[in-house]
Formats: sequence, structure tokens, C-alpha cells
Amino acid sequence: MANVHIMDHPLVHHKLAVLRNKDTSVKEFRELVSEIAGLMCYEATRNLPTVEVDVETPVGMAKCRTLAGKKLAIVPILRAGLGMVDALVDLIPSAKIGHIGLYRDPETHKPVEYYCKLPEDIGNRVVFVVDPMLATGGSAVAAIDFLKQHGCKNIVMMNIIGCPEGIEAVQKAHPDVEMYLAACDERLNEHAYIVPGLGDAGDRIFGTK
Ligand code: PRP
Ligand code: URA
Repeated sequence: MANVHIMDHPLVHHKLAVLRNKDTSVKEFRELVSEIAGLMCYEATRNLPTVEVDVETPVGMAKCRTLAGKKLAIVPILRAGLGMVDALVDLIPSAKIGHIGLYRDPETHKPVEYYCKLPEDIGNRVVFVVDPMLATGGSAVAAIDFLKQHGCKNIVMMNIIGCPEGIEAVQKAHPDVEMYLAACDERLNEHAYIVPGLGDAGDRIFGTK
């Protein structure tokens, strides 16, 4: 699929191997989520427009490129998405941050909304939606639905681990959204967990289980 980009980089592979390990500590898990998000940000921002500027160095004039003033926003899907925010803010310090709170009903696996607070001008921004896991795709589709209801036209989805079911669901509902993933796993199990995945990302980031 043209809009789906799956990373293939030795550093990402290595960090994912440690992230997935069931014996990785909460501290290390949190650090790895952030480090992988930073590496993904590098790829996901590849198509941002730039403008040419002249810069005077101590030695002469240099033709340089800077970001073309496009306003950006980062929107984590709570809770687990919070683990990816700092890495993106480090690289894009001027980005505004919105929050969308969704949890999956354990029976139906459908997303339930409990919070939404977005920058007022979100509709004029390129929005990076972040969430470590893309399972059924229900949470991602619901978050993108909200953003479009708020006028967003330029949305990039970033997930660390996805699966074919989730990618298909997002692409079917929102074919205009560019998707960046660190890995695409085999399938979902009967509880709609990604196999082999990494378990429950929120619980592993926040140490709640
Ligand atoms: C996880 C994950 C995604 C969602 C993915 O969150 O962080 O938001 O599940 O599943 P889906 O693609 O089937 O919707 P969860 O609902 O466990 O909430 P949490 O982040 O608060 O733990
Ligand atoms: N949410 C998670 O945290 N992990 C999965 O595998 C699926 C949904």
C-alpha cells in the first residue's frame, strides 16, 4: 500500500527485539518506546516542505533549507501514546500537543472515548497521531475521525507495532492518511492482541500490571 511505510533499519530492529522481550523492565521499555519513536519521527517527517534560505557562516554564504513554516501538532492516543510524545517534541519543539483519550472495551474491543483536548487551530496543522500499538485499528480510526471532524486534512499515523488487520482498517476508513510503523506483525489473537507483539503497551509503559 502506497501510504504505508514500515521501517527497516538495524537500530529499530535491535531496539524492537529488546522492547518485545517479556523480561524487559518498565524503565527500559519506556526508554525504548521513546528511542524508537525518535527514529520513526525522522522517517515520518521526511516529506515536510522546506524553503531555501541563505545563511552566513564564519567562512561564507551557504544555501540551506529550513522547514517551510508548516505548523505541526502531535496527538497521542492515551494512554500508551504518551510514551512517544517526548521524543517527537525533542525533534519538533514548536509543535503543539493535543490529547485523545480512548480505551478498548475488553469485551467488544471497540474504542471508548473519555477525553479529547486539541489545539484550537488543529485544522491548520500537520498532525502526527502517535500510539505504540495498532491492533484492530478501531482506536486509530476513531482518533482520525475526531481529527477530521475538527478540520484536519493532513494526518500522519505513527505506530510502533501494527498488524495487517489494523493497517487495512485505517487505510479503508482513511486512505489519505500516511502510516509509519516500526514493524508489521503476523495477526491478532482471539483477544485482539497482536501476535507476537509485545503485550499491553500501556501496562508495560506505566507498570500497571
Ligand atoms: C491500546 C493501544 C491502542 C489500542 C490498539 O490501548 O495503545 O490505543 O489498544 O488497539 P486497537 O487497534 O484494537 O484499537 P488500550 O485500549 O489498551 O488503552 P491504554 O493505552 O489506556 O492502555
Ligand atoms: N493493545 C496493546 O497494548 N497491545 C496489543 O497487542 C493490542 C492492543
